[in-house]
Amino acid sequence: MTPMPRIPDGVVSLADHEAHASTVLDDNAWAYFSGGAADEHTLRANSDAWSRIGLLPRVLRPLAGGHTRIELLGRTLAHPILLAPVAYQRMAHPDGEIATALAAAALEAGLVLSTQASTPLEDVARAMGSEPGRGPLWFQLYLQHDRGFNLELVQRAERAGYEALVLTVDAPTHGARDRERRAGFRLPDGVSAVHLAGLPPPPLQSAPQPGQSALFDGLLAHAPTWDDVAWLQSATHLPVLLKGILHAGDARQAAAMQLAGLIVSNHGGRTLDTSPATAAVLPRIAAAIQGTLPLLVDGGIRRGTDVLKAIALGANAVLVGRPCVYGLANAGALGVAHVLRLLRDELEIAMALTGCRTLADATGALLNPEHPAAR
Ligand code: FNR
Ligand code: LAC
Repeated sequence: MTPMPRIPDGVVSLADHEAHASTVLDDNAWAYFSGGAADEHTLRANSDAWSRIGLLPRVLRPLAGGHTRIELLGRTLAHPILLAPVAYQRMAHPDGEIATALAAAALEAGLVLSTQASTPLEDVARAMGSEPGRGPLWFQLYLQHDRGFNLELVQRAERAGYEALVLTVDAPTHGARDRERRAGFRLPDGVSAVHLAGLPPPPLQSAPQPGQSALFDGLLAHAPTWDDVAWLQSATHLPVLLKGILHAGDARQAAAMQLAGLIVSNHGGRTLDTSPATAAVLPRIAAAIQGTLPLLVDGGIRRGTDVLKAIALGANAVLVGRPCVYGLANAGALGVAHVLRLLRDELEIAMALTGCRTLADATGALLNPEHPAAR
């Protein structure tokens, strides 16, 4: 009989989950899940930026009846924490995305399933269930070179009950993943991107001619553009959010095209190294869109105080990537649930200690006066 999973002794924070997972995952999986691009400046900068922002507490404010509820895309959510799309979760634990969905449902957290998931989207939707209290279920899309294939995948997600599409726009190609290359990373047998199984090969490209680039004249010949965003909007009845926005100009363009929401993200430091920490650009993006569409952020969120700071800087909600995978590696669904429970509890504690009864109270007034967004 397999022993009941349990949370390892001494694991009381997301950082503890990370440290423990580094002893559970093999070198191959650890390089993939924990690594970032190149020198990992952005990977480190993400969490450093949240921890460098100071909170300025207010005292003696009434806190009775407080809560963490938010409104997002027409629904009331119990709290503002969603699970970011992370590929190949069966490499972290045999239960993979199913365990993640069970935990998300139990903790009333929204879930974004990756195009590169290792479990079919229908099975994940079933695990997430349809309890009215459960968080939203969204599908993350990587547009492929074949529109017919994209359309079929979108329609599968629609039929399975996904409530929104998250189009990731910051990764037309992988970053320079030195850590993966050093580890000789390969997908283990039995783990694959199941949704891409039927993808027809790209139109035949001859070997690059002199003066041509294998990247630009190969993979990127079909890289998505704003025209493809407009196509996707016309091809689905689901709301479309863009993930991977860092520049205010792109945020304004997305607002002008009436996207359903934006996710400020640098892909957890896995694409362009030395791109800015998300905490650093969030206020500028919030100022650019002026609340005209929902704004989410991810990258380096490891504490309830980080969640509160994100809201104070203008986000409506946050996503968490690696910590959920670490919880998954440590104790399956129970581990993911523990990570979410810790973050929810820490968020409530942070609200109480800063005098916020609701997240509407989390504004620039909470920030240390030296912060540019403080008021
Ligand atoms: C990711 N991320 C990601 N994003 C996406 O849109 N589609 C995907 O398939 C993946 N896959 C993926 C795999 C792994 C191992 C990681 C760590 C990340 C990015 C992810 O959604 C999110 O933006 C970051 O993980 C957020 O940063 P933190 O919370 O991991 O610091
Ligand atoms: C990654 C891809 C799958 O970050 O988004 O590994």
